[in-house]
Amino acid sequence: MDDNVLKITGLQVFFYTEEGEVRAVDGVSFAIKRGRIMALVGESGCGKSVTAYSILKLIQKPGKIGGGSIQLFPKDKEPIDITALTEKSNMLYTVRGGLVSMVFQEPMTALSPVHTVGNQVCEAILLHQAVSKQRAREMAIDILSKVGIPGAGKRIDQYPFEMSGGMRQRVVIAMALVCRPELLIADEPTTALDVTIQAQIIGLMKELIQSMGTSILLITHDLSVVAQMADDVAVMYLGRVVEQGSVRTIIKNPRHPYTMGLLASLPGVHKHEKKRLSSIPGSVPSLTRIPKGCPFHPRCEYCKPGVCDIGSVPTLQSVAEDHTVACLRAGEIA
Ligand SMILES: Nc1ncnc2c1ncn2[C@@H]1O[C@H](COP(=O)(O)OP(=O)(O)OP(=O)(O)O)[C@@H](O)[C@H]1O
Ligand SMILES: [Mg+2]
Repeated sequence: MDDNVLKITGLQVFFYTEEGEVRAVDGVSFAIKRGRIMALVGESGCGKSVTAYSILKLIQKPGKIGGGSIQLFPKDKEPIDITALTEKSNMLYTVRGGLVSMVFQEPMTALSPVHTVGNQVCEAILLHQAVSKQRAREMAIDILSKVGIPGAGKRIDQYPFEMSGGMRQRVVIAMALVCRPELLIADEPTTALDVTIQAQIIGLMKELIQSMGTSILLITHDLSVVAQMADDVAVMYLGRVVEQGSVRTIIKNPRHPYTMGLLASLPGVHKHEKKRLSSIPGSVPSLTRIPKGCPFHPRCEYCKPGVCDIGSVPTLQSVAEDHTVACLRAGEIA
């Protein structure tokens, strides 16, 4: 039996703008296995963050979850149907920051500039755990040293502005991990950091989840981060998942032309060939004007007129064990 920590089925999220209804997420399904790192990857605007916010029910009106279900399976507890939770339910508070925590896309805005780092980490602890203030402080020092802040006992009384960008990001990760969540959502956790710090943070997150048994949903537009960090990956395009499987499979044997394009534009993949890095032609169309047929067809070098540009949107089909692709020509272009 699959030991999933989260299962999303047919998720739809809509926003209403002057241009009309925006289907930011339209029928996304995937599962995250316990203790594994699942990456959600795709170009800007494809719906990665909106999918993540839905897991915490953070979609603001007039946006809404228009369909589908999100189920959380906490260890040794009853499953929780997140989509069915009402805004004021106690369970939603348990989910947010307790069972599921999130490192937001802009980490620098996640910290309050007027409170010390210690106060902010302690607050996260006291909100979800019945411990004394003294104990919360000890726990905060412990987690801050675990995320690699040297002299955590002293640093705890500093303000965020007294720390470097890399350190602040460590604090944000510490806050997210301190309640030992079942699932950590990390939305572009390393994008704002320089490359060496990025590598350190990635190594750190991997170590921490191994010792704590946390699962991670890693959101990034960077396939090299996926290759270094994740076990499984779902590739999104215009609010849908177009390819899904283990990272090893997808990197070695991508079957969707969009995934192939993302990989071809990655430095390092073609190290043995003296080839220019390619880019995917065209740009992502507006969500209010999604092309007919396969939404990727205007940008696809494998597009077959009369096949790919008509009919309904291709759905995910299994092409191998644990590998699904939504491309009408996946069989021919392998
Ligand atoms: N509050 C909102 N109102 C209207 N449209 C929205 C809102 N929030 C998101 N969207 C739209 O939903 C789509 C998906 O946005 P999302 O933030 O999930 O993209 P993303 O994949 O995380 O991109 P990025 O890599 O830039 O972070 C975008 O087209 C965005 O404009
Ligand atoms: Mg985003």
